[in-house]
Amino acid sequence: MSEVGETALPAPLTVLLLARSAITAPPLKEMERLRDALAMHPGVDEALFAFSEQGSPSLRHALDTLTASGCGRLVILPMLIPAEPNFQAWLTRTLTRWRSRDERPWPAIEVAALLPNEASLVSLLHAALAAERTELSLGAAKASPEGSLVPAQKRRVLVCMGGPCNVAGAEVIWGHFRNEQDRLSLRTSGDGCMSAKTSCLGPCNLAPVVQVWPEGTYYGGVDEAAVDRIIAEHVLGNTPVANLAYEPTGKKQFLRAREA
Ligand code: FES
Repeated sequence: MSEVGETALPAPLTVLLLARSAITAPPLKEMERLRDALAMHPGVDEALFAFSEQGSPSLRHALDTLTASGCGRLVILPMLIPAEPNFQAWLTRTLTRWRSRDERPWPAIEVAALLPNEASLVSLLHAALAAERTELSLGAAKASPEGSLVPAQKRRVLVCMGGPCNVAGAEVIWGHFRNEQDRLSLRTSGDGCMSAKTSCLGPCNLAPVVQVWPEGTYYGGVDEAAVDRIIAEHVLGNTPVANLAYEPTGKKQFLRAREA
């Protein structure tokens, strides 16, 4: 039975809730609850969620699964507050890149407006203000400062988040690397590897750029497949990936075409 205000959708479709990141259990549970609620909406055949940065499943993985299952029509519901004006352009670029390397038939993909207009967001804020609130119990300040361990990890992977790298898909690269870092326990494997987002690393025209230390090797035009090779060969194998790396030459360099 439909709730008041729900509108039946014209044909069965799959709905994908897209959030930025979640790495702990409570927000994942929240996503599950939202997914289950959405699955009850009339006309929704299937509901699922994914993350555009760190979190599992990634957007790439969710799309891969849906394409493999023959999904014909997909609506992406972005959960990004505040709304980002460039989100749709970013999503289009990212999906176009993935699609260009995937010969399977893809579903028709639509994107819903995060919130139809500002009034909807304002009424949500009003409702939150009117709802029950929790007073924070702050307790007493600690008498002595807490200490910190100095990390023993020798490797650092820097993922550039400067403007050109962001436009070229750095968020997805960061999310994929962090998911693999967790999956493969890279912090405690080999020499141990930590990772960080950075501002511009320099060679913007080679975006998206990743740099691996202690060698300081630059990688340009990085995609998920390149991340996988960098992890296997450089981070774990201690050998920089020569055909993905860009060595300092003192001259301007251009992105090289990648072998299929
Ligand atoms: S913005 Fe990434 S290298 Fe400049």
